[in-house]
Amino acid sequence: MKVIEIHTPSQDSVITCGAGCFKRLAPRFLAGHRNFVLTDSNVHALYGQDIKAVFGDAPVYILPAGEESKNEVSLFRILQAMIDAGLHRNSFLFAVGGGVVGDIGGLAAALYMRGIHCVQVPTTLLAQVDSSVGGKTAVDMGKVKNVVGAFYQPEAVLVDGTFLKTLPAREIRCGLGEIVKYGALNAKILDSLTENADRLFDLAYLAEITPECIEHKAEVVRLDEREKGLRKSLNMGHTTAHAFELFYGGLSHGEFVLIGMYYELKIALAEGATTAEYAALLEGLILRVLGEVPRYEGVERAAEYARLDKKNAASDEVSMIVPADYGTYAELRLPFEKYRSYLVSLAEK
Ligand code: NAD
Ligand code: GLY
Repeated sequence: MKVIEIHTPSQDSVITCGAGCFKRLAPRFLAGHRNFVLTDSNVHALYGQDIKAVFGDAPVYILPAGEESKNEVSLFRILQAMIDAGLHRNSFLFAVGGGVVGDIGGLAAALYMRGIHCVQVPTTLLAQVDSSVGGKTAVDMGKVKNVVGAFYQPEAVLVDGTFLKTLPAREIRCGLGEIVKYGALNAKILDSLTENADRLFDLAYLAEITPECIEHKAEVVRLDEREKGLRKSLNMGHTTAHAFELFYGGLSHGEFVLIGMYYELKIALAEGATTAEYAALLEGLILRVLGEVPRYEGVERAAEYARLDKKNAASDEVSMIVPADYGTYAELRLPFEKYRSYLVSLAEK
């Protein structure tokens, strides 16, 4: 078992990585409390018996699986169920699922009685390497992604690789999207990814690289929990990813992260923010995971959604975090029209 700790002024968060840690450690949080389990329909179909075995009679709220559930309506339904369950300030909410369950569950825990204990049990690769760690919680509202949320550190995160045995290859690819992002931020992770390029979908390799990614994120969160500066780096590729995710949909967050990284890498190269050699290395990795990068119709309109990105300092500019060189990144701020014309020339069918 590997343990990684994040101490912030608001909360200590202990992340444990290791096969079997869910069944071994989750019961430690149960004694004497009224608890609540949030999961989704797919995870419940696969792991309902394990959830029952670990949590006994605790109420289990089952969200319909998918990003469409990550909204304000679901959030208030969950909060109502928490009231109905009679949770109190010492209660624990266990979010057992992917990033959707983790994000909305974390926010429900932050809001209920102004904050109850939260334990994240991430069951997708994406949630294990990224979303369950660091305390960002949110729901989407209207067409705006993650627009209502809070920073709320989970007390514990149980990263148990055995959940990945049932994860479809496509969802592994989504998690690899975030792992490639870490590679573009951290030279040690990049070396590992290039050395193990043939094993990227291998669960044994993912068990090795996951704690490395979490350690990278933990260090960023320790230094900049509230995203005043450094934490923005974790949004590499996300400006375009979120714009395309909202406008086109149809693919998963992690796939859009890879697509966003690909197009933003091209923009960075055109702007001289990175070198051709480094861009080629990262492009190779992105293509190995994603296969083909889609082109789109209507990119001019899709680009409008990049205006909503939380990193932007002004409405007529677009901020992107782009790779610069091994282990370094840059924030590229472009006038909106310039960003849009790059994107149209690169991504339009
Ligand atoms: P998800 O939660 O929708 O899970 C993907 C699919 O996998 C779902 O159909 C789910 O039911 C299924 N699934 C989950 N665990 C499974 C398992 N063990 N076996 C089989 N199927 C399983 O999506 P995700 O990719 O985990 O997370 C994406 C979300 O995370 C997005 O909403 C994104 O905005 C958010 N996110 C948040 C952060 C953060 O810092 N909070 C970071 C990155 C992404
Ligand atoms: N996934 C971005 C962050 O946690 O800051």
